[in-house]
Amino acid sequence: MKKKVESSLMEKIVNLAKTRGFIFPSSEIYGGFASCYDFGPLGVELKNNIKREWWQAMVQQRNDVVGLDASILMHPKVWEASGHIESFTDPLVDCKECKKRFRADHLLEAKGLEPGYLKEKPEAFSEIKCPECGGELTKPRTFNLLMKTHVGPVEDAASISYLRGETCQGIYVNFENVKESMRLKIPFGIAQIGKAFRNEITPGNFIFRMREFEQMEMQYFVNPKEAKEWFDYWKPLRLKWYQDLGIKKANLRFREHGKDELAHYAKEAWDIEYNYPFGGFDELSGIHNRGDWDLSRHSKFSGKDLSYFDAETKEKFMPYIIETSDGADRATLAFLLDAYDEIKGGRSTTTESVKEVEVVLRLDKRLAPIKIAILPLSKKPELEKIAKEIQSNLRGTYMTMYDVTGSIGKRYRRQDEIGTPYCLTVDFDSLEDKKVTVRDRDTMKQDRVAIKDLESYFKEKFGE
Ligand code: GAP
Repeated sequence: MKKKVESSLMEKIVNLAKTRGFIFPSSEIYGGFASCYDFGPLGVELKNNIKREWWQAMVQQRNDVVGLDASILMHPKVWEASGHIESFTDPLVDCKECKKRFRADHLLEAKGLEPGYLKEKPEAFSEIKCPECGGELTKPRTFNLLMKTHVGPVEDAASISYLRGETCQGIYVNFENVKESMRLKIPFGIAQIGKAFRNEITPGNFIFRMREFEQMEMQYFVNPKEAKEWFDYWKPLRLKWYQDLGIKKANLRFREHGKDELAHYAKEAWDIEYNYPFGGFDELSGIHNRGDWDLSRHSKFSGKDLSYFDAETKEKFMPYIIETSDGADRATLAFLLDAYDEIKGGRSTTTESVKEVEVVLRLDKRLAPIKIAILPLSKKPELEKIAKEIQSNLRGTYMTMYDVTGSIGKRYRRQDEIGTPYCLTVDFDSLEDKKVTVRDRDTMKQDRVAIKDLESYFKEKFGE
């Protein structure tokens, strides 16, 4: 099982995330809760910045995509129509000895076998043993990933509903509402960010696979004749988004889904994969041609015709959907991993105690949780007064952090570790020359900037 190998980089990220307020295990005082995580003060800033960048790129900077925020709970028929009740399953096996549970397809993958092997030679699966204890495994059986709940005061079959397994279903059921209210013509897209829930058999690797997570999905409705063209348009654009926000080219690649692994709705599917420290390249995001599966099925199950009439060509057709599907949490993990840098022997010249290893989180400025740290050199009231005035002027535009504890070297390092692009120091000279020192996280270059010019200085630095 490739996902089992813990690497030291992963351990460092998990540790940094916990100790510096990015990500905590959910309900930790009760021992944590099955692959659920809480985003702390810096984590929520980072994830919000990622979501904001996605929303800007996918909605606000385009004329052909609009936004939506549909409810998590939907009519249970949605999940019948979508095929999730029937087909949203993973093959599950149990070890008869140690009672651990595994996904049969992951075990096959670890042996270099295709998932189709399960259907072709179910009997041969008995040759595969438990990767933990070598014990005998049960026969694979299907396990549905939808999370069931009851809506209303009576817990009976009629009250069963589901926490949505993917956000895009809320988009399909609103196709007509959005098209009509916004007077949209095909091709157009609807984008949504929100929570999704899956009863994953083997969650793990921190926030890589969770049971509650956030998706950033965009569904682009097209004429079937143009589906391939639009697929080829969106595929490189999604990769570019990750690269533009700083992920190294070498750590990203495309992978096409084989016929055996295509989801029940997909005609063609590609993953953007990231090179994770736990076993190499794996899914970060997906681009799918869903054909007319979704709108046809919802037409059939709801009785409402969702086909489209093109007034110009007089053509009537069921739109095809090109889907881009990203995980906000998985993206957060990839951005954190990719930004993590260690400098052996340290690089600070201002620190008395040179540490063996200095950590710098080289996050893109747009993603960094804190943009500017305000550091008065000492607790002297006259320095703090200036520092607080500067902070109150900057905080309307930038997320700032005020830190007055410890040596300036230690404070720089604390900010480097959380990825703060700029540290602003108020010193005794500031009282005379009305200037402050601004230090760059990556170059460590220091500029002496007049307090009155700080606004324009940062405007230029943040490229606004
Ligand atoms: N609507 C299509 C869809 O949901 P998917 O490949 O199942 O496709 C899309 O999921 C993205 O959602 C993945 O690429 C990943 O980023 C994220 N994702 C899926 N399952 C996840 C989980 N259990 N934990 C965290 N992120 C997940």
